[in-house]
Amino acid sequence: RTVAVVLAGGTGQRIGLEIPKQLLKIAGKPILEHTLHVFENAPDIDEVILLMTPAYVEDARRIVERAKLGKVTQVLAGGSTRSETTRIAIDAAAAGLGEGEDCNLLFHDAVRPLLSQRVVRECVESLERYQAVDVAIPSSDTVIVTRTHGNDGEFITEVPDRSRLRRGQTPQGFHLSTIRAAYERAAADPFFQATDDCSVVVKYLPHVPVHIVTGDDYNMKVTQPVDVFIADKLFQLASHAAPAQAGEAAYREQLAGKTMVVFGG
Ligand code: CTP
Repeated sequence: RTVAVVLAGGTGQRIGLEIPKQLLKIAGKPILEHTLHVFENAPDIDEVILLMTPAYVEDARRIVERAKLGKVTQVLAGGSTRSETTRIAIDAAAAGLGEGEDCNLLFHDAVRPLLSQRVVRECVESLERYQAVDVAIPSSDTVIVTRTHGNDGEFITEVPDRSRLRRGQTPQGFHLSTIRAAYERAAADPFFQATDDCSVVVKYLPHVPVHIVTGDDYNMKVTQPVDVFIADKLFQLASHAAPAQAGEAAYREQLAGKTMVVFGG
């Protein structure tokens, strides 16, 4: 049994809109609704738990009702950090299980609306063999490590070998028992801090291998203002079919010269 957890508890400070960015409409629908549709349409997903920014829980419930998203069983208020939101989701998923029962959880950022069915399927398959799975893509940019030196600004301390660097996306999948154990240990660490869930497993359960599924560039996180523009264009590219599924395929067709996509107007 696999439960998708859609993390929509943030406020989107970096994008700087009045409403949380996951409620922004792109290609005719709120970003959140696009994301929920991906899981609704995924044969391997049995249930969806949605965590929403506390002041917008009712808006999220309305979206779920209007779009008739039957797999969504719970719409709950998220926490003050992404990790807090994850903890709430773990408890909600665990409450539905009997003693000794386990299930798979796939945590996904609500603001990655162009997730493909291929990636969802490969994550679920990976959890048949592994306790934890991450989705990542190679980095096109060189990534540098820096330190700040007084008022002089930032300086390079290290340039890691790019061929071994990956950019982490979501979903991140776990056996519920595994991610629960990792977060239990994290709770005892006064310095705990994380921006994703795989890092919690890597840090607190170092013996657990975290398998990697290759993501894709479509699965971008709407984070900065320019991302709204890019996501909108990507939806246009795929607009002849269900976007989140067609994204990669439409792009490959275009590369193969079968279709010509003209933007603008
Ligand atoms: N998230 C969450 N609960 C939080 C914070 C973030 O569920 N307390 C979710 C966001 O809604 C988003 C995902 O985690 O779908 C990725 O986080 P990010 O892009 O950083 O979203 P925000 O925290 O909303 O953005 P910002 O950091 O710019 O404020």
